[in-house]
Amino acid sequence: MSRDNKRDGFSGSFGMIAATIGSAVGLGNLWRFPYLVGQNGGAAFILIYLFFSIVICTPIMVAELVIGRRGQGAPAISFFNLSGSRKWASVGILAMFTCILILSFYGVVGGWTIKYLVNSVCLQYREGAVLDSASAFGQFVSGSGGPIVHFLIFTALTGAVILAGVTKGIERTSKFMMPVLFVLVVLVAVRSITLPGSAEGLKYLFKPDFSQIDSNVVLAALGQAFFSLSLGAGMQITYGSYTRSDDNIIQNAFISSFSDTLFAILAGCAIMPAVFAFGINPGEGAGLAFVTLPQVFVQMPMGGLFAILFFATLFLAAITSAISLFEVVTASMMEIWKMTRRKAALLTGSIIVALGCVCSLSQGVLSGFTVFGKNVFDLFDYVSSNVLMLLTSLLVVLFVGWRLKKEAFLDEVTAGGRARMPRSVGAVLFYIIKYAAPLVIFAIVLSVIIK
Ligand code: PHE
Repeated sequence: MSRDNKRDGFSGSFGMIAATIGSAVGLGNLWRFPYLVGQNGGAAFILIYLFFSIVICTPIMVAELVIGRRGQGAPAISFFNLSGSRKWASVGILAMFTCILILSFYGVVGGWTIKYLVNSVCLQYREGAVLDSASAFGQFVSGSGGPIVHFLIFTALTGAVILAGVTKGIERTSKFMMPVLFVLVVLVAVRSITLPGSAEGLKYLFKPDFSQIDSNVVLAALGQAFFSLSLGAGMQITYGSYTRSDDNIIQNAFISSFSDTLFAILAGCAIMPAVFAFGINPGEGAGLAFVTLPQVFVQMPMGGLFAILFFATLFLAAITSAISLFEVVTASMMEIWKMTRRKAALLTGSIIVALGCVCSLSQGVLSGFTVFGKNVFDLFDYVSSNVLMLLTSLLVVLFVGWRLKKEAFLDEVTAGGRARMPRSVGAVLFYIIKYAAPLVIFAIVLSVIIK
């Protein structure tokens, strides 16, 4: 099947891989992963996470890419093109909705990264500075104007890239940003590992203690693998549709998930040794990056410089992921309602701004408004990551395994024989998609419901 020439798309494998890694590597790696490692006992959690990423999640990524490239459209359109059924197309609408929810709170955290980058540039985290980072963080996020202004800047920057289109906007940005990001994380990790007293942190990261493992830890590892690889939100379907018809999907998926995992481990190496070196509690929770690290930087030789590097990294990682979430929604609107990119991007932006402002305010003046005991920010996070992404992924694997059928799958992953990929590898992945993945996801959904 050849890609419609009129359709915007990635110019080649490297552009596609850079954009996919750009989406996968985000706050999920640099902010969520380290604190989950800290809360779930360290190395054993990481091992389970690695296992799920490679064995279950990478095949699911392949399934999404197959739907996108074969269906040639945003999620809803791809499902419709492949099945002719509106019921299946609604899975794509679910994915679009999931992206809107994620982007609403993700953009707020993206705004926080801008604020912390600005603080760093103003040398607030220089070595020796006096700082009460916990109350500074609490005061900032619970304010009204400050976080909203930063959220709006973050969303406007994201929207600007989307307006520029796939090839010029997303691909060019990612090709430039991903290597920079890699260098920055490595630099911060090296600084962290060479601090006196960092050895305990490395031990915590790499010496597994399986007595820490229970079903909650397993679930947390699995959920994190989904979030980090951008699965179950239609993102891989959308980028799959921009992939050239002769690209090797399986190879690209493995490169993307390997890189994503590498970034997560590097982020662990950047944060955990420093946390141990300065005697901070690794189980600190969601504040680990924003509360703990400034405290670490002010106690660190050349901390001012490393603060700028770290928050620049966090910002770059956040925006490339936000771009992919934004693109799913914009592309869906363009294709479902035949809108121009400009109109669709503006509409996406407006919805995100409205919901994001509520998320932001829910950290402060609206904190009293709760549903199931969660404020709007936590609710959006919980519902999107723990319910919608799993549900969409379950439907994706059921669709590919049971509706699309093996021959179509093998034809797509071998690019009709043009990609150098043995059919046997495709067949193994197909059986994982058909049997193992639904079972595992079903188990998670069930445990989420039972809890
Ligand atoms: N994977 C991104 C991260 O780790 C988040 C994301 C989820 C992006 C779903 C796109 C789709 O931050």
